[in-house]
Amino acid sequence: MSSLLIRNARLRDETELKDILITDGKFAKIEAGIPQEAAAGGEVIDAGGCLVSPPFVDPHVHLDAVLSASQMPRQNETGTLIEAIGIWNDWRPGLTKEILKRNAREVVDWYIANGTLKVRTHADCTDPTLLTVECLCELREEVKDLIDIQVVAFPQNGIFTNPNHIKLFERAVEMGVDVLGGAPHLELTREDGVREVETVYEYAEKYGKLIDIHCDETGDPDSKFVEVMAKESILRGMGERSSASHTTAMHNYNPDYAFKLIGNLAKAKMSIVTNPIANANLQNRLEGYPRKRGLARIDDLHARGVNVCIGNDSVMDPWYSLGRASILDSAYFVSHYGHLVGAAQLPLVFDMATVNSAKALALEDYGIAVGNQADLVILDAKSVSEVIRLRSECTYVIRKGKVLCTTEPAKRTLYNGRNMEFRV
Ligand code: FE2
Repeated sequence: MSSLLIRNARLRDETELKDILITDGKFAKIEAGIPQEAAAGGEVIDAGGCLVSPPFVDPHVHLDAVLSASQMPRQNETGTLIEAIGIWNDWRPGLTKEILKRNAREVVDWYIANGTLKVRTHADCTDPTLLTVECLCELREEVKDLIDIQVVAFPQNGIFTNPNHIKLFERAVEMGVDVLGGAPHLELTREDGVREVETVYEYAEKYGKLIDIHCDETGDPDSKFVEVMAKESILRGMGERSSASHTTAMHNYNPDYAFKLIGNLAKAKMSIVTNPIANANLQNRLEGYPRKRGLARIDDLHARGVNVCIGNDSVMDPWYSLGRASILDSAYFVSHYGHLVGAAQLPLVFDMATVNSAKALALEDYGIAVGNQADLVILDAKSVSEVIRLRSECTYVIRKGKVLCTTEPAKRTLYNGRNMEFRV
C-alpha cells in the first residue's frame, strides 16, 4: 500500500484547514487532525495553509502545432487566422513524427509543471497522412501515467472542401480519437457549414464520441454555426457531450440574436470554450479601430447558465507565437478582457480553469473527494482570487498520489534586506 498525507490544506470554500490522506492513488480521508500514523510510513507534506485544488484543465490546445512558431517558413503578415492556417498548410508536409512528438512531449511537461493534468488536444485530420492523429493518439498512451489527454479529430480545412476529407475524418475515428471536431466557418458555403455540423453530430452519435467543434472563429457577425450546434444538441439530447470552441463571432452578434442564441445554448446544456489570448491576437484584424477582440460573451453566458471554460489554444505556433502552456495566464487575461476582476467574479474565472472544463470534458473522478483519483495541486496562495492575481506557482503537483513536480516560488530580497512578497 502506498500512502501520502497532506497536512494543513486550505480547501476552497472551507474555513477550517484539513488533512488529506491518499492511499493507493485515491483520496482515502479528508478531515482535520488525521494522525501521522495513518500515513503508514509514506510521505508527509505540509501545505502550510495554502490552497489545495483539483488540477487545472486545458480543454483546448493544438499539440500537433506547439513550439513550431520559430520553424515556420514565413511570418503571419496580416495576423489573421486565415493566413496562419495557410502557413500551417504550407509547413505541414515537412512535419515529421520525431518533430511533432518531441514538441508535444515537451509541452506535456510544461503542463505538468503548471499543474494542468487534463488536456484536450485537437489533431488536424485533413493531413492526408493523418500523421498528427497517429502521433497524438500514441502520445496519449505514452504519457497516461502523467496526464490525461483527449484527442479530437479536427478537420482544420473543413470536411467538404475536398472529397477526401470525409474519408480522412472516418479514418481518424477508426484510429481511436476521443472527440469529433469541426470547423464549419471554414467550409466554402454556409450550406456546407451546416452540413458539416450535422455530419459531426451523426458520427458522434453513431460512434459514441464527444463533440468539440471550432465554431464561428471569426469576427464575422453572420457566422452563426453555433446555433446549428444548439439545435443538434437539443434534438439529439447530446448537449452535455458537446462543446463549441472559440465562438468569437458571438462578440459581434446583435443583442437580440445573442439573447435568443444564449437561451438555446443553456437549454442545450452545451459548453463554450473561450481561448482568450490567441483570439485576442487573431480576431477583428481587418476592422481597424475601434479594435474589438475575439471573445465569447462570457458574463452573459454564465449569467444564463451556460458552462463556460478557458483554453490556451496555442503554445508558440503559427497562430500565436508566445505562451507557456499556463491556463492561469489565460485566466488572468480573460479576467480583464471579460470584465471579470470583481471579487464575486474571480471564482468564476477559477472555475473556468478547473471544474467547468472538467465538466466539458465529461471527466469522471475529478475533484478532491473520497474515492476519487488523487490528482491535486498545492498553490502558493490562500484564495482563488490570489491565484488569479499572482498567477501562483504550483508548489506541488500530485497525480494518483505521487509527486510529479515541485516548484519553489521566487524569493526576493530588497535593497534594505527585506524579503518581499506581493501580498498585503
Ligand atoms: Fe483551436
